[in-house]
Amino acid sequence: MFFFLLSLTIVHQAVPVAVRLSRRRFGQEHTPQADTTYQAVKDIAKGTNKEEQAGNLSGAMVRALLAKATTCDQQDRADEIIDLAISLGGERKKKLIKVAKKYRQLERNTPKAGQPSALCHKPPRHKELDGLVQAQDPTGKPVHSGKGKKKDPGH
Ligand SMILES: *[C@@H]1O[C@H](CO)[C@@H](O)[C@H](O)[C@H]1NC(C)=O
Repeated sequence: MFFFLLSLTIVHQAVPVAVRLSRRRFGQEHTPQADTTYQAVKDIAKGTNKEEQAGNLSGAMVRALLAKATTCDQQDRADEIIDLAISLGGERKKKLIKVAKKYRQLERNTPKAGQPSALCHKPPRHKELDGLVQAQDPTGKPVHSGKGKKKDPGH
């Protein structure tokens, strides 16, 4: 029995790719893609009088991708990135709008792997975000329409 369990353990360790695939469904708030957007917001605002606002927004962006965040937090933060973009203008505006769109489409954490995250049914404030939704865990089932309505605070 001991050897049987031992060999199971060895087999398990021999498939680290499968283990990583199931694990990576958690922690979507700190994927390299997500981290790039947090950093970009801070970097683009650097040297302006909006550095502190960008730092705060960056932290709020992390929290909006947590499983416990409310349905529209991710979209609200994306709208705020565009507010910041407009207040800075020029090249910074263009760059931040790209970041906002990318951030809006990041996968969000759900309490369980494979569980779809609810969609926000409130329209975004900025037209640049029209029609954009977060990515879903490709190992999960498709989102049922209307799923986000019950818990949507902004509707
Ligand atoms: C950033 O957050 C801190 C702490 O919550 C707050 O005191 C400060 O006013 C915020 N700054 C801006 C520019 O929003």
